[in-house]
Amino acid sequence: MRAAQSDLPLVFDDVSLIVGATTILQRVNLTIGPHAPTVIVGPNGSGKTSLLRLCMGLTVPSAGTLTWGGRTLSPKTRRAILFQKPVMLRRSVAANVAYGLARAGCPRRFRAARTEDLLDRVGLLDLAARPARHLSGGEQQRLALARALARQPEILLLDEPTASLDPAATRFVEEIIVAAAQSGTKVVMASHHLGQVRRIAGDVVFLVRGRVCEHAVASDFLDRPATRQAAAFVRGELVL
Ligand SMILES: Nc1ncnc2c1ncn2[C@@H]1O[C@H](COP(=O)(O)OP(=O)(O)OP(=O)(O)O)[C@@H](O)[C@H]1O
Ligand SMILES: [Mg+2]
Repeated sequence: MRAAQSDLPLVFDDVSLIVGATTILQRVNLTIGPHAPTVIVGPNGSGKTSLLRLCMGLTVPSAGTLTWGGRTLSPKTRRAILFQKPVMLRRSVAANVAYGLARAGCPRRFRAARTEDLLDRVGLLDLAARPARHLSGGEQQRLALARALARQPEILLLDEPTASLDPAATRFVEEIIVAAAQSGTKVVMASHHLGQVRRIAGDVVFLVRGRVCEHAVASDFLDRPATRQAAAFVRGELVL
């Protein structure tokens, strides 16, 4: 049997993204490898979401080349993306996960058990029968994570997954993310929280106005930022 192809490393070779007259990302050179989570930070509008959409293959570069495991085309089956505002189906919590499993090709006879397992993993088993749209923001994020994990992705792309959550909900979501990373899923996550970078990141990509200003091991980025902008960002100053 042929070994499954890997989507890693994810390599940006001089990638630019231009829409109309706007240059959103400019000449990005970046290698995202396996193992610890990669966290993308930067001010509003610096291109974090756009970078994640490229990683998923939802948009294509205007210039340069993006490759997954050396291939310029790779089906989205090994990747999952979680947007900042999760989209819920008008169905129960369990049905939302079962739908994700069906989309991921999970045979019908396994879906009920897998749904239960995933809801347990994200702490929503007690709410399985509730309409998904009645969940709180934090619960919706956890459900969206369960749906993403249903795909058993090699790469899990997360766009500010804790942006509107309180500390307890943030901790819960972070624990799910760390557990996924520890079980071998490559996490690539946009975040605004330096505390979260410290808790989760293996490496950090710092974007400023569509350019990669710095790409470093997380502890180096936080303790010894190499650029003036990164130093200001780490000090909590407003980087414009
Ligand atoms: N389809 C589009 N057409 C035109 N401009 C776009 C498009 N998508 C994004 N942009 C612009 O590209 C820039 C980067 O947007 P992006 O959403 O990637 O930033 P971000 O770092 O995720 O910001 P935030 O922290 O606010 O989420 C912004 O100035 C945005 O207005
Ligand atoms: Mg964004």
